[in-house]
Amino acid sequence: MQITYNLKPALERRTEQFLPTTNVGFGNLRTDHMFLMDYRDGEWCDPRVVPYGPFQVAPGAIALHYGQSVFEGAKAFQHEDGEIYTFRIDKNAERLNRSADILCIPALPEQMQIDAINALIDVDRLWFPMQEGACLYIRPFIFATEDRLSVSPSEQYTFCVMLSPSGPYYADGFDKAIRLLISERFHRAVSGGTGASKAAGNYAASLKAGKAAAEYGAAQVLYLDANNKQIEEVGAMNHFHVRKDGTIVIPKFTDTILKSITSESILDLGELLGCEVRQETVMLDQFIADIESGEIVEAGGFGTAAVVSPVGSYIFEDNRIVTVGDGGVGEHTKRIYKVLTEIQKGHIQGPEGWVQHVKRVNV
Ligand code: PLP
Ligand code: COI
Repeated sequence: MQITYNLKPALERRTEQFLPTTNVGFGNLRTDHMFLMDYRDGEWCDPRVVPYGPFQVAPGAIALHYGQSVFEGAKAFQHEDGEIYTFRIDKNAERLNRSADILCIPALPEQMQIDAINALIDVDRLWFPMQEGACLYIRPFIFATEDRLSVSPSEQYTFCVMLSPSGPYYADGFDKAIRLLISERFHRAVSGGTGASKAAGNYAASLKAGKAAAEYGAAQVLYLDANNKQIEEVGAMNHFHVRKDGTIVIPKFTDTILKSITSESILDLGELLGCEVRQETVMLDQFIADIESGEIVEAGGFGTAAVVSPVGSYIFEDNRIVTVGDGGVGEHTKRIYKVLTEIQKGHIQGPEGWVQHVKRVNV
């Protein structure tokens, strides 16, 4: 892929925003550039790195009306050698194409996606925040640009990658567990729908549920299946629980659950974690009974942005509260977080190929 570059003059980008003491937060900042590529006449063309800025989009663009748009979320980390390494970026590229397929968007060859991401990180590497535990959050997305109001797949698209220098998700340390609302009113996905994709519309559809969760003092909704029998996932994380023998359990991936790369990683790390990690159908009634009997001792969510998010309690729509263990952050959850983040930061060696060096080409 022959990428063209239109770069801003090199600046000293490590301003006060990037001092080790500044909390840059998650998703707030942007770097100088973005990567763009278009799809027209049946092929992906014109790969380019350009200054970050607004798009020109036709008011009739299909993405704006019918939501034909998919995205990814990945992270890159700076290791002690000063170099930047992506984490499992091949899995994100693969999943973008799975999402694209669900929304009738043409696939973008995975190596092209990875080359695009590496090219962008390379030119914006000085934007890496200096704060301990920081990362470059990578947001690739594809949206339909054809200016047409009939409901059928667009024949034109734009692929964009943007970067967000982000601080650690838990700026004050990993010591507060969240509450989830178990809802029988809101559902994220049904079989045969778009639940297994990162379709933009799935997140628009979660906003009302998020508001309802807040009214219950909960951070997010824990979604059940359409029959309100099984635990599925959280709006931006998979769900997990830990049994008292240390076994980590993640609901089985189905076509109503996003196949989380964090969950897949934890499933592969059983040996390093020193415990069994398995997937099974998780029935809500049994789950609650097991928390109450002390058989389940910890619970939480897995996701790229949140990494590992401990859950201390659940609230039902009738205000019944069920507390997991002592409601705090358990030892297993802390260990999972530590092992995963140490691999990402290059402090411990993960499985072959998980971290990939971003080569210095332009900078
Ligand atoms: N489930 C949903 C609905 C998500 O949006 C995300 C976030 O990407 C996840 C799960 C976690 O997936 P991953 O670990 O690949 O980020
Ligand atoms: C991620 O974890 O990368 C996500 O995409 C979640 C996002 C909705 C904040």
